Amino acid sequence: MVILQQGDHVWLDLQTNGEFDVPVGAVVKLCDSGHIQVLDDEGNEHWLSPQRAINIRAMHPTSVHGVEDMIRLDDLNEAGILRNLLIRYRDHIIYTYTGSILVAVNPYRLLPIYTADQIRLYTNKRIGEMPPHIFAIADNCYFSMRRSGKEQCCVISGESGAGKTESTKLILQFLASISGQHSWIEQQVLEANPILEAFGNAKTIRNDNSSRFGKYIEIHFNNRGAIEGAKIEQYLLEKSRVCRQAQDERNYHIFYCMLQGMALEEKKKLYLGMAEDYTYLTMGNCVVCDGRDDLKEYSNILSAMKVLMFTDADNWEISKLLAAILHMGNLRFEARTYDNLDACGVVCSPDLATASALLEVFKVRDPWLQILQHSSISNQSNVR
Ligand SMILES: Nc1ncnc2c1ncn2[C@@H]1O[C@H](COP(=O)(O)OP(=O)(O)OP(=O)(O)O)[C@@H](O)[C@H]1O
Ligand SMILES: [Mg+2]
Repeated sequence: MVILQQGDHVWLDLQTNGEFDVPVGAVVKLCDSGHIQVLDDEGNEHWLSPQRAINIRAMHPTSVHGVEDMIRLDDLNEAGILRNLLIRYRDHIIYTYTGSILVAVNPYRLLPIYTADQIRLYTNKRIGEMPPHIFAIADNCYFSMRRSGKEQCCVISGESGAGKTESTKLILQFLASISGQHSWIEQQVLEANPILEAFGNAKTIRNDNSSRFGKYIEIHFNNRGAIEGAKIEQYLLEKSRVCRQAQDERNYHIFYCMLQGMALEEKKKLYLGMAEDYTYLTMGNCVVCDGRDDLKEYSNILSAMKVLMFTDADNWEISKLLAAILHMGNLRFEARTYDNLDACGVVCSPDLATASALLEVFKVRDPWLQILQHSSISNQSNVR
């Protein structure tokens, strides 16, 4: 049996609907003739009778104030890990090690821990010499590569909104900063991000800037340790988002940025209006995203494209494609019968002519142009 005193830290086994939850940490407030009052980490008070005291276990000292490396936790279980992260997070410490793995808890606000001074502090240090930090991981990769001459790999994973994209950018920022020459190629590696995010990220209910694709980035260094190139591979882009978004979600940022930021003259040439005018941008009933400035983002995307040497002609072709997608999204179809077969036809609208003209697929002469699809063919799913 545990003998407890006021101020002792304990683990509390609580139940919900008869099932034990993950134990929570608590501190003993009062011990009175066998009755114990405890205050748990979530701020809830509990009175425990002598019979219920069996639901209490003493907490190991390593769990009381938390540790920088969770390998040192004596209560090394789910409760121990969660409490360690919680108490550090409450002290605004978002990084914790488990051996060579870094656990990051998203602070959802800018902490002053990514400055040039911090980069200097973490450069060329052994892991554990400084408090846990994403820069320490980047530094470890870089100097291991330089010492051993071998490639290094860093895997970043977590649920949506956990901070993977931000962590990737911080690692790139660190590598660009310590690898030396601030060359054009380095600038290009960094500026690839705004473009990738514009075309591959969108607002979801979990993250205003959710990456809808996986990414494998290779950074190539020369033997003096300077960045010489990069290769980015993408996997499994959520293409369906272009035509359909869930409630409170948006399409890819680029569409909204283009409609906000493009000059009126150019918009006219592409027959573009406002985001509210397009089915593909309004299915989630959400065209603006608090905290994101689509207008400013558009100018960032354009400057990133300049750094990556997209020509004006390339840019224009991309804009034409984006505009064509929006116009196609406004097409309406209606059921028809053709040769006694079920078919569908495009309801007369200028959007088809505009989309075709932008895609340069054919010249539209007949405003009543119809696209007929025989159901017998579409059933074989070989319709392009
Ligand atoms: N280290 C950090 N400091 C401050 N804010 C952060 C940090 N990491 C993440 N955030 C905030 O959390 C948001 C979501 O992070 P991020 O986009 O990196 O998540 P993600 O893991 O890439 O999610 P998804 O899988 O949806 O792409 C960011 O837009 C930013 O506001
Ligand atoms: Mg992401």
